[in-house]
Amino acid sequence: MVTSKKIAAQASRLREEINHHNHLYHSLDAPEISDAEFDRLFNSLQKIEEQYPDLIQDDSPTRRIGGVPLSDFTQITHERPMLSLNNAFSDADLADFERRIAKRLETTETIDYACEPKIDGVAVSLLYENGALMRAATRGDGTTGEDITLNVRTIGAVPLGLLGSGWPARLEVRGEVYFPRSVFKKMNKLAERRGDKVFANPRNAAAGTLRQLDPRVTAKRKLTLFVYSVGMTEGGTLPGSQTEILAQLSDWGFRVNPLIEIAHGIDECQAYFNQMSSKRGQLDYEIDGVVFKINLIEAQDALGILTRTPRWAIARKFPAEEASTQVKKVEFQVGRTGAITPVARLEPVQLGGVTVSNASLHNMDEIDRLGLFIGATVLVQRAGDVIPKVVSVVASKHRKSIRKVRLPSSCPSCGSDILKIEEEVVARCTGGLNCAAQRKESIRHFASRLALDIEGLGDRLVSQLVDEGLVRNPADLFRLTQKQLVPLERMAPKSADNLLRALKKSKATSLERFIYALGIQGVGEATARSLAVHYGDIAQLQGTSEEALQAVPDIGPIVAQKIYRFFQQDTNRQVIKELLQQGVHWQAQQPTAHARALVELRFVLTGTLNGMTRNEAKARLQALGAKVSGSVSAKTDYVVAGDSAGSKLTKATELGVNLLSEEDFIALLKAHEKGGA
Ligand code: IVH
Repeated sequence: MVTSKKIAAQASRLREEINHHNHLYHSLDAPEISDAEFDRLFNSLQKIEEQYPDLIQDDSPTRRIGGVPLSDFTQITHERPMLSLNNAFSDADLADFERRIAKRLETTETIDYACEPKIDGVAVSLLYENGALMRAATRGDGTTGEDITLNVRTIGAVPLGLLGSGWPARLEVRGEVYFPRSVFKKMNKLAERRGDKVFANPRNAAAGTLRQLDPRVTAKRKLTLFVYSVGMTEGGTLPGSQTEILAQLSDWGFRVNPLIEIAHGIDECQAYFNQMSSKRGQLDYEIDGVVFKINLIEAQDALGILTRTPRWAIARKFPAEEASTQVKKVEFQVGRTGAITPVARLEPVQLGGVTVSNASLHNMDEIDRLGLFIGATVLVQRAGDVIPKVVSVVASKHRKSIRKVRLPSSCPSCGSDILKIEEEVVARCTGGLNCAAQRKESIRHFASRLALDIEGLGDRLVSQLVDEGLVRNPADLFRLTQKQLVPLERMAPKSADNLLRALKKSKATSLERFIYALGIQGVGEATARSLAVHYGDIAQLQGTSEEALQAVPDIGPIVAQKIYRFFQQDTNRQVIKELLQQGVHWQAQQPTAHARALVELRFVLTGTLNGMTRNEAKARLQALGAKVSGSVSAKTDYVVAGDSAGSKLTKATELGVNLLSEEDFIALLKAHEKGGA
């Protein structure tokens, strides 16, 4: 289609205008037009691009959300390692830091530092080529990270194309992606209402969101970022100091923290630290300290780096946020396996921007250790997490109306006896599946994200279903009908429909998810996966012996016994049978119990394979018990080199690691897969 010059010019004007307003809104927090006006501009551009698809450019503001979900993230190697920081825990540590630096730089002059808040988020690397965002990656272990470009593109504060001019041909910018506190709060509230998993803290939420395989999910959550440094440049120069570089990055469209200041000498750094300590609670983002960086790049270069940390920067961390409050009562919750957990109900207190009214006490030993009693004044701490912990009892404030905390003798939910075995710290309800609390928890676990991942089956709904007698065990879930659901509180025909659809969808699962979903004591995700790989089939696993279980990697005698006993119980076997009858299924897997020749061998895949995808290769290796990792080290046993293999191949050759061509690799797989069938 021939596009007239006029329309092309109009599209480019709109793009520029949208990028400009996007920058004002997301990076400078200073919008000049209303949301409605912005939407109008955006829609105009969208219309033009729909009509004239040849005008679409990759960095167009309409191209933030890529459509297709990924099945996995690709590993990437950072061109320059992403470093971490040394910590200073006191003013004295800071003074030492300055002394060391002055000595190395052989200077007696006052040193200038860039003082920056240390954002408690997730570090990312953004690579621009000729001004266009080409790749975004997580920090990973500092050397290799994961390619999260599609997710990062959805973040409004990340420019897809750089503004202004004068950027180096290749430019890698680093920063911290985070959730504003306000957004996090709303998001968790919504998740709670819907019965989805709530995040422990904004950092976990940001990390989880960046690792979403479906970028449409990321786009719905409002992540943002602050950039704090440049990683690598090629073909261009940058200003000579950290603060000038940040000003330059801001001009190019990046969001830079407005609280960054220059300090002359370490005393001013200390003053900055104190100032930030008191500001901290009022910020809409979490900071876990401040970072001091020698401002002059020349001096940074002269100081250089140690193995993983620069000599020219140091972080001064804040102590954990604490507050004192009173224990009103202690209640006991019953977990999935009957474990009884004491929870302190507290006089509500403000702590790090949230109201705290509960704290887990873990078990009776913990209560003894703390010397905690009802009526006690305690110190609570939030170490980054939403759920705070009790750190100590404040002895000087004891009240008269105190009561000792006693473990109840019967279950608060079902009234069955509570048993505490001498060697175990936890006490357990003996009610088993007759206990409504245990039933609820085991159904919640069954539906949870890493298990059958039943969307919309939240805590509240599980409670209702169990209380109404509609569901006693996981298999009952698949017998639910529209007629049973609609009369429930907060249930409309549409939500009932959605739930039934989600239940149906969840029936197609994997053996490892199914095993995990059963909720066997001691069987987390990793163990479930080992069991799935080893047995390849639920019937095999059910019929196994305790000794055979101990031969599975990572399973010791205690967990082996628990698994064995679980499958010996008639009720459990019955539930499994019913689940399979209801149509829960997964793709058959090769059992590897007899063919684990690759067990414990470490493989690295590099380059392109012609006969299969990298994911398939990985899955087939893992099914044979091999470990697949992203980077080559002295521990690697084999590197599979496909077409145009790059730096990993070089490294493998340097280290003398065994190399396999695609042909060798397929032959190896076939030999072992056959052996095990
Ligand atoms: S500079 C060479 N500046 O803290 C210096 N890091 O412990 C490397 N962080 O991985 C980082 N805010 O994720 C720097 N203003 C800031 C920061 C910051 C947060 C994080 C970053 C890094 C970690 C280092």
